[in-house]
Amino acid sequence: MHLRIDGDTRLLVLTGAGVSAESGVPTFRDASGLWENHPVEKVATLEGFEADPRLVWRFYSERRRRAKNVHPNAGHAALADAESRMGDRFLLVTQNVDGLHRRAGSIRLVEMHGSLFETSCTGCRREAFPDDGEYLADPPRCEECASRGRVGLLRPAVVWFGEVLDPMRMHRVSSFIDESRGARLVFLAVGTSGLVYPAAGMVLQARAAGAEAWLVNAEPPENLRAFHHFVRGPSGKVLPPLFEWS
Ligand code: OAD
Repeated sequence: MHLRIDGDTRLLVLTGAGVSAESGVPTFRDASGLWENHPVEKVATLEGFEADPRLVWRFYSERRRRAKNVHPNAGHAALADAESRMGDRFLLVTQNVDGLHRRAGSIRLVEMHGSLFETSCTGCRREAFPDDGEYLADPPRCEECASRGRVGLLRPAVVWFGEVLDPMRMHRVSSFIDESRGARLVFLAVGTSGLVYPAAGMVLQARAAGAEAWLVNAEPPENLRAFHHFVRGPSGKVLPPLFEWS
């Protein structure tokens, strides 16, 4: 099955953990209630961080280390190639924090759950900044807070359970959909279980604007019925030959 793309098509892509599976990054829902052997509420909530920042930083330092040691796969590359052909008619939204899309060359990219390679401060409103440090002993502290005589603990700039998504990032997605009225809009979801909102609802948002909805996934996900076309298989194999350019 081919997804035809012509000069009037706009393509909105949503990716999840599945797109990085062939790079060796574990997906989320393989382990029940545990996230790489840690209870989710201990390592992926603000409460967990406040209770034990050292444990949470160790966990994310380990994820940083692993993410540095894997490489984008053919699925990431196919999406970067589509963007290079389509320019501003393309937008990639990812739930992944592993940085692999950026490393594959994607630029028009919204990292809706943040990035493993950014850090922010729990004490002040400074913007998240690039950081690939691994903190195994004491959790890092904010220099800007220190310069004002305060103590601010730094934290990974990822979205934890119970936290709200950055409205600016989500606005970019809504704007892309709004600007597509009158053109042919295609929505393509890849490697996501369709369980976590608002990402899981994006297909309906795009369809309300007239989008044709495609899905590439290893298994039928929770929200399968929302899609017009389902191509079952690993994204590293399915994506490279999927697009038909006209
Ligand atoms: P999941 O682990 O929930 O789902 C991954 C999906 O990818 C499953 O449906 C698999 O069948 C599919 N899959 C696995 N390998 C694949 C492959 N090689 N090619 C294609 N599909 C494959 O991951 P997400 O849907 O990304 O949020 O999870 C969404 C969010 O839940 C995450 O961003 C995270 C988690 O809670 C936060 O951390 C805020």
